[in-house]
Amino acid sequence: MEWFDAVPFMIGCADAAHQVEGNLVNDWTVFEETHPEAIADRSRSGIACDTYHRYEEDLDRLAALHGNAYRFSIEWSRVEPHEGVIDAKALEHYRKVIAACRERGIEPIVTLHHFTLPVWLAHRGGILASDVPYAFARYAAACVAALGDIVTWWVTVNEPNVLAVMSYLYGYWPPQEHSLPKTVHAFAQLARMHAAATVAVRDVAARNGWTAHVSFAHHVRPFQPANPMLPSDVAAAASMDWLFNSWMLEACRTGRLLPPIGRGEEVYGLRGSLDYLGINHYTGEEVHLTLRGAEVKPRRGYPLTENSLAIDPLLFESVLISAWDTYHLPILVTENGVADRTDDLRPAFLEDHLHAVQRARANGIPVLGYCYWSLLDNFEWHEGYSMHFGLFAVDRTSLERTPRPSAETFSRIAGEMAGERVPIVPR
Ligand code: GAL
Repeated sequence: MEWFDAVPFMIGCADAAHQVEGNLVNDWTVFEETHPEAIADRSRSGIACDTYHRYEEDLDRLAALHGNAYRFSIEWSRVEPHEGVIDAKALEHYRKVIAACRERGIEPIVTLHHFTLPVWLAHRGGILASDVPYAFARYAAACVAALGDIVTWWVTVNEPNVLAVMSYLYGYWPPQEHSLPKTVHAFAQLARMHAAATVAVRDVAARNGWTAHVSFAHHVRPFQPANPMLPSDVAAAASMDWLFNSWMLEACRTGRLLPPIGRGEEVYGLRGSLDYLGINHYTGEEVHLTLRGAEVKPRRGYPLTENSLAIDPLLFESVLISAWDTYHLPILVTENGVADRTDDLRPAFLEDHLHAVQRARANGIPVLGYCYWSLLDNFEWHEGYSMHFGLFAVDRTSLERTPRPSAETFSRIAGEMAGERVPIVPR
């Protein structure tokens, strides 16, 4: 029996410190202040959902919906507010959050880096600084030393592909670059950060006799040619697919910075750095190559979310199948969700996507868990508070949480699936 056969199914919600905790000082809060025009509704993360203080009541909400897993992130800028100085009190806070999870039968899934950086690091080049893998590993080691006795599931970096593209190619996010060479550099650096942190997590856990399962959270967004008869569309979709969806996974499999990001250089710790595969999935897109470059649009013929993403649960199922067929790693859905303020789409979205997970499991694919993004409406990066992913709506003045009807759908399905031990028959 493989180790993952013994894992009770985890179902819960995901969020990230910057989007929910409130009152942070990091590269994003500086960006929100200095570039108000970059945020769709000109909002600032500010107090966010005040989850920093209200985590217990929110974990009660999750537990009441039969959730047994909570993915959240540790905020690097709290833990290491000055370079090389670890704030033990900050780690103590996260220990309390984890203890509160455990008291409620909720499995914590802990992300070490979810898009934000301490200001001191941003000032000296952010993820492009040459020593960032070392700095990240040092911070990761401090987190595991403080929390590794009560955390098993670790996520090193959230969505390296999204971060590289949004920050260095499209320039929506700090440091707002539009540079292909810097995007390439960012991909390489994030692979090095993931590798260095994985070594650190495993090392500290092993020295203490703790179990640690490590992955990064990989955003999978399949690209298909807008016109499959046009070789230019086919080629554009295939190259985007390679870079965005496959490159990082192939780097972890081979341990090398493969073209076009590198020339095959080996990165210490990268090979075999995944114990499981964290998958974030929202949508797929169509690509049309024009003289001005690749036009990327939502796939035609599907309902669209509040942020114009096509909803296709069968695509989600195919992502799970092909990830397993290609990498043979147990899968944890670290994010899947829908922006839908009126909650017209979410109940069916949950039904359809969780049924896809059930079918995948019944077909022998070891999907270990599913984290819905998100329990609460939260600060959606450059979209500010204009996107509504929550099972609970959050009133921006009172911060009162109100369940949407889909919370009931989630609760019903989670009640059936939480803790399930389907014997996983390898395909
Ligand atoms: C993901 C990201 C989350 C959240 C979500 C919803 O790409 O990891 O932080 O923003 O999208 O858009």
